[in-house]
Amino acid sequence: MRKKRLVEGTDKSFVLVVLAALIFGFSFTNTEPEGLFVTPSLYRTGALESNHALPFILFYNKWSCIRLVLVRRGVFSERGIIVSKVINLGNVTVYVEDSYEALGARAADIFAEALAAAPTGVFGFATGGTPLSMYGELIRRYKAGALDFSGITTFNLDEYYPILKSNDQSYDYFMRENLFNHINVPTDRINLPNGEAPDPEIESRRYEAAVRASAGLELQLLGIGENGHIAFNEPADAYTNATNYTSLTESTVQANARFFASADEVPKHALTMGIKTIMLAKKILLVANGAKKAEIMRDALLGDITPRVPASALQLHRDVEIVLDAEAASAL
Ligand code: GLP
Repeated sequence: MRKKRLVEGTDKSFVLVVLAALIFGFSFTNTEPEGLFVTPSLYRTGALESNHALPFILFYNKWSCIRLVLVRRGVFSERGIIVSKVINLGNVTVYVEDSYEALGARAADIFAEALAAAPTGVFGFATGGTPLSMYGELIRRYKAGALDFSGITTFNLDEYYPILKSNDQSYDYFMRENLFNHINVPTDRINLPNGEAPDPEIESRRYEAAVRASAGLELQLLGIGENGHIAFNEPADAYTNATNYTSLTESTVQANARFFASADEVPKHALTMGIKTIMLAKKILLVANGAKKAEIMRDALLGDITPRVPASALQLHRDVEIVLDAEAASAL
């Protein structure tokens, strides 16, 4: 009796779509157990072309077995991954923007929303080339009177070690130059790991304690390294828990050499928040642009969750927004 009412009370085509998704999805998992994929045949056969604005897509992920995911309308690429302006993987939303400037504006929108919700909150910032368009946009909005940073506390992800704050390649210098000097965040509430500290292990513990003693990160901004690193958490056998003193891989040294006179000048060590420190943030905002980031974005979002791809941990976070340009999204 109850069952009957349930079916009658629901649109029957909706029930059929879910059943079809289950059947097709299971058969796909048997034939292609690697990685994560959706079931393009469902789309091609028209099974999803119902009147429902939000079709259900079933996908398989080696790590999590089977998940039913609500996806906003999109189209499938050759590999069967959904490509759309907005991709919603449940806990992870991916925005694909037309240009680097549009990426910055979208990321600024997401940041501004979090700031409006928590004007005295704690916000995590990042360095690298990618956040620059977002920082430019935040500065522009601040100068236009649309944003107020006077109540916030900031924590940056990482810093080279050892490095003088006066070195124009230090992250301390970078943040002052590209953001903090141009907005009204109080200087005494700006925090970065100290590249001048006498002992990197003690400094790591001090920094972790300061992050944990804060009210908690409302939002942590991230870039991503070409090898999948977030902050300076390089590919490894295990995820890091807390802020730590770490060695940079050769690929990171080479990737960051573009900012230095030569690769020899790139510091070989750094202080970095741990993966767990980052994962404790209420919201994660990751930005990436350019073809060089395409493969790693695919691996991070759609591959196995493994410390060999540090950013893949984000699949486990409950609230992640990712802003890409079309090139960085091209392998999804
Ligand atoms: C550095 C930083 C990371 C950043 C990465 C990517 O290694 N430690 O936090 O995400 O560079 O930088 P870019 O945005 O320049 O590609």
